[in-house]
This record gives sequence, C-alpha cells and structure tokens, in this order.
Amino acid sequence: MLDRAVGYLRCPQCAKGGSLARVGGTLRCANGHRFDIARSGYVNLLPAGPPKNPGDTPAMVAARRDFLAAGHFAGLAGALAEIAATELTSPAAGCVVDSGAGTGYYLATLLDRLPGRVGLALDVSKSALRVAARAHPRAAAVGCDVWRQLPVADRAAGLALSLFAPRNAAELARILRPGGRLLVGTPAADHLVELIGPLGMVTVDETKETRLAGQLSPCFDLDAATEYRTELHLDHPAVSALVAMGPSSWHVEPGSLAAGLERLGDPVPVTVAVRIASYRPGPRRP
Ligand SMILES: C[S@@+](CC[C@H](N)C(=O)[O-])C[C@H]1O[C@@H](n2cnc3c(N)ncnc32)[C@H](O)[C@@H]1O
Ligand SMILES: [Zn+2]
Repeated sequence: MLDRAVGYLRCPQCAKGGSLARVGGTLRCANGHRFDIARSGYVNLLPAGPPKNPGDTPAMVAARRDFLAAGHFAGLAGALAEIAATELTSPAAGCVVDSGAGTGYYLATLLDRLPGRVGLALDVSKSALRVAARAHPRAAAVGCDVWRQLPVADRAAGLALSLFAPRNAAELARILRPGGRLLVGTPAADHLVELIGPLGMVTVDETKETRLAGQLSPCFDLDAATEYRTELHLDHPAVSALVAMGPSSWHVEPGSLAAGLERLGDPVPVTVAVRIASYRPGPRRP
C-alpha cells in the first residue's frame, strides 16, 4: 500500500522535507536519505535513532487489537466514519491521516466509508505499526514521533484524526489542505466511570476540554462538537483487555485487577463517552 501513499509523504531528514520515491524495499529522497520498509509492511520515518518514547508496548497493542476486533468500540468507529464522510465531500481532497493510529482500526473504518481514499496510520510504536500495516488495503503505516515534524507533505490531507492520542496542532494544521478537517476524539468526564475507581485506573483530566481548546486554538477553529455515548456490558476478559490496552496498564497490578473484577458484577456495565470535535485550520495556521 505504500506505493499509493508515498506521494503524500516527505523525507524527515531534509529541511522542509523533500519528496520520497519507492526503490525496491526502501523509500528514498533526492538527497540520498533512505528508509527501509519493514517486512511487515510499515516504513519507519523517524529522523534518526530510537525515539525517546517508544509508544505502546507489544502487550498493550495485542490487548487493543483483540478488544477492538471484538467490536466493542464499533459504534464509536462508525460515528467517526459518519462524521468523516459528511465532512469530506470533495472527491479530490487528499489523504486521511490518523495521528497516533495505534492498530489502525479507526482509520480502516473511515476508509471503508471513503471509497478510493488513501490513509496514513502514524504511530511511534513498532508493534502498533505492524498491525496497522495490515489494517486496510488502502492504508499505509508510517513510524514517526508526532511531537516532531510529521513526515507528511504540506497540505496533503483532507482529513486528520486524533483519537485518544497526543496531538501536535501546528503540524496537523500544516498537513491539512484548505477546507480540510481535523477530528479529535477525547474521553468525556464519565468515560469508563464504572471501572476507574474500582480498578484503580487512570482518571480522565476534567480540564481536558479547556486544555484541548488552548492547545488547538492557535492553529484551528472549532467547527462542531458532539458526544458519542453508549453503555457496554463487558465480561471480565474484555474488561482486562480494556485496562491492558491503555495507560492504566502501567498502574494497575494484575493482583489488584483480579480483586477489583471480583467485586464488580459479570458482565460489567461500562459507560463509553467520547467527545468528538471537528476543527478547520484557522487563518493563523503555519
Ligand atoms: C491510547 S492509544 C490510541 C490508539 C488509537 N488512536 C486508538 O484509539 O485505538 C495512543 C497511541 O499513540 C501512540 N503514541 C504515543 N505517543 C506517541 C508519539 N509521540 N508519536 C506517535 N505516536 C505516539 C501510542 O503508541 C499509541 O498507539
Ligand atoms: Zn531527504
């Protein structure tokens, strides 16, 4: 899939990022920088050396892949795809970039709703990239650190998605075409509320909405916001996967998870509440 995506990418080593071309098992720029394509199909476009933060661990990625494959968040993916299809009406409007894409599950759902469109799954985690490289026939998986310059050409994207992931406002604005949209999904205050206390999970930062607005406002204007909300009934293995796939996996000991699960019913009612906001690049974008 890299062949169709390569035109949207740019060299992370060249100032202002030169274009890349595929030569055998590598991507190369005109200045001789080369990047190997991994056997699993992703290309690592990190400028040099290992990243400071390697992203999600193999265990977190495996838990995320299994949890999402079971369809528990299919409603959320469908809601995002519906918004994407409504927002992205022009047929010539660039690729779809998922920044912090994880396994590429949401990007794949979006691409199913956007026929012919190419997707870029950006993530720093090699385990995630291996899964994302196979997420969809029109998606390419690209290794990068979203806090640095994205290896994506200026104005290449018609739509960018950032769901439960770090976001670099200036870079997202740079890669969006005029008229493009940024979709941001963040947990609402009561997301997973039934699990947070009993299982000692990481709590949602209740100032997040204000913080998000402050982070994005230099480059973006808010277009619309909605909330996706449902109640799931999860068995204990699914709850364990939900804990293991996110930041709480660093904090919740297996022993206390088992004890916490004992105290919860089976299945466990779980609120899923995600704020989905759509932004357009503002006049002050880079
Ligand atoms: C909570 S997961 C969300 C993944 C996906 N958006 C989803 O909802 O399934 C956050 C993702 O961001 C990635 N990530 C964290 N820091 C990153 C960085 N600095 N650059 C690129 N990806 C990063 C992690 O590896 C992980 O896959
Ligand atoms: Zn180069």
